[in-house]
Formats: sequence, structure tokens, C-alpha cells
Amino acid sequence: MPSKSKFKEVMRRDRVFDFMVPGGRHAVIAKQLDISHDIVLYVEGISVSFDGFKALNDLNLYINNGELRCIIGPNGAGKTTMMDVITGKTKPDAGTAFFGQTMDLTAMSEYEIAAAGIGRKFQKPTIFPEHTVFENLELAMHCDKRVWTTLFARLSSAQQDRILEIVDTIMLAAQINLQAKNLSHGQKQWLEIGMLLMQNPQLLLVDEPIAGMTQQETERTAELLTSLAGQHSVVVVEHDMEFVRSIAKTVTVLHEGHVLAEGSMDEVQNNQQVIEVYLGE
Ligand SMILES: Nc1ncnc2c1ncn2[C@@H]1O[C@H](COP(=O)(O)OP(=O)(O)OP(=O)(O)O)[C@@H](O)[C@H]1O
Ligand SMILES: [Mg+2]
Repeated sequence: MPSKSKFKEVMRRDRVFDFMVPGGRHAVIAKQLDISHDIVLYVEGISVSFDGFKALNDLNLYINNGELRCIIGPNGAGKTTMMDVITGKTKPDAGTAFFGQTMDLTAMSEYEIAAAGIGRKFQKPTIFPEHTVFENLELAMHCDKRVWTTLFARLSSAQQDRILEIVDTIMLAAQINLQAKNLSHGQKQWLEIGMLLMQNPQLLLVDEPIAGMTQQETERTAELLTSLAGQHSVVVVEHDMEFVRSIAKTVTVLHEGHVLAEGSMDEVQNNQQVIEVYLGE
């Protein structure tokens, strides 16, 4: 078994992003993440309108380095739109979003943001069904998933170790040679998380991770996300309150594109405004 210190060494982001090496293919975006203030994400005064409707309305959110943050809120509160802004899919009408001290997310493309270290887990996993778990992780290690020849390139032993570590993390060691299409629904979700981890994101955004999962898969997903915090910052959007309670330290409640409350699960669940918003659903 690889030791924990080895794991940590591999997880150091300045080592894993080959393309961030000066002079590399993507040198133009080779900007180091500066988390000297221990805050990985600053979202300030963000507003997004769709045909005059404000999906986000002066949203402010700060994510600490290594924290696991849960975001809850009624349907249409703006949770997914918030992730769209952070990942560059949607450009805000107003406000700023910074990754660390220096990276202005509103000025970066989706690709640049992903390459800079923000990974996003979509609800429908983008895995390669005909390929094994191992091959999927291998593909993800190379930035460009379209480069199929990489499948046949020789892996260094460090790269192989890394895949084996990730496969352990995502609880798929026994399925490593199984074609992805034969995984259960929950296992496919974990594989996609593993593929994101291969890129070593500093910040991981996960929207409704347990939708469609069995109770057991849900519990294991809670363990997985909890285990990722510390080495990564993780932002989880989820409706299932029992699940949120099982993983949350700090919970942010969104309502009408704005932060309604923030605090421990007990604090937000006892917040009168939060109660009214949920009763009104
Ligand atoms: N591309 C779009 N065009 C028009 N309206 C949009 C668009 N995307 C989101 N909206 C609207 O913005 C609001 C916020 O949507 P969003 O998907 O962010 O909510 P959410 O909190 O993720 O909700 P849910 O819990 O249902 O996933 C909703 O009223 C939605 O209809
Ligand atoms: Mg949503």
C-alpha cells in the first residue's frame, strides 16, 4: 500500500499539472494558485440575469482552503447557476469571482478554469463506458480526453501508483478491470469523481451527488466526500438534508440568488427565515 506521505506528495498540485510547467503547451495559463490567505474561492457581489430574472442576486461566498461546504436551498435558488459562474460556463452581469488571491475566474474560459484546478462533477457522468475503470482514470490523467493514443503510452510507475491510489479512494479497487458500463449507478458517479481527482483539482464542485443512489451508496459517497476535504476544497450542492447533515460542517443556504443563512446544520435548520423559505416551497 502506498503510504500517506507518498499520497500527499502526489497530490501536491504543483507537481501534477504537467502543463503548468513553464514553457509547456499551456504555459499561457501557468498561474499558480495563491491561497496565502487560506481562502480558495471568493465570490463577491455576483449577479446573473436571464431575461431580466435574477438567478443570482448579489451573491457572496467564501470557501476556505480544504473545507467541505454544503450549499442548500429550494429549487431555483441559483445553486447550479453559482457553479456555472465559478466554472466559467456563465458570465456574471456583475461581481467578481476569484480562485485564490489572483485568478479572476470571470476573465477565464471554462477550459482555463478547469486547467487551473477547479473540477466539476456533473450529474450525468462523462465516463467512457467501453473502457475499464483503470483506463478511464488513465485517460483522465491526460488533460485532453480526446487523445486516445495516450491509452497506449507507457505509464510511469508514479502514474500507475497514482491511479491505484485514486481507485482505492473511490472504492473501486475490486472493479479496476471492469468496463465502466458494468458499474452500478453509484459506482459510475464515484468513477467520475476519480477522473476529476486525476487532474488534482484544488476545488471540487459537486452538484446533487447522491441523486439515484441506494442508501449504501449514499453513505459511502458521504465518506468519500468527507475524505477528500483537507486535500481539496469541496463544495457540495444537495437537497437531501440527512445526507447534508452527515457531511456538513458549514452549510450555506441560498434563496433567490442570495445567501440567506450560513452556519452549522443546526444553526441553519433553526433559522426562522430558512424555515419559512422551506415551508413555502
Ligand atoms: N440558461 C437559463 N436560462 C433561463 N433561466 C435560467 C437558466 N438557467 C437557470 N435559469 C433559472 O435561474 C433560476 C436558478 O436556477 P438554478 O438551476 O441555478 O437553481 P438551483 O438552485 O440549481 O435549483 P435546483 O435545486 O432545482 O437544481 C431558476 O429560476 C432557473 O429557471
Ligand atoms: Mg440545480
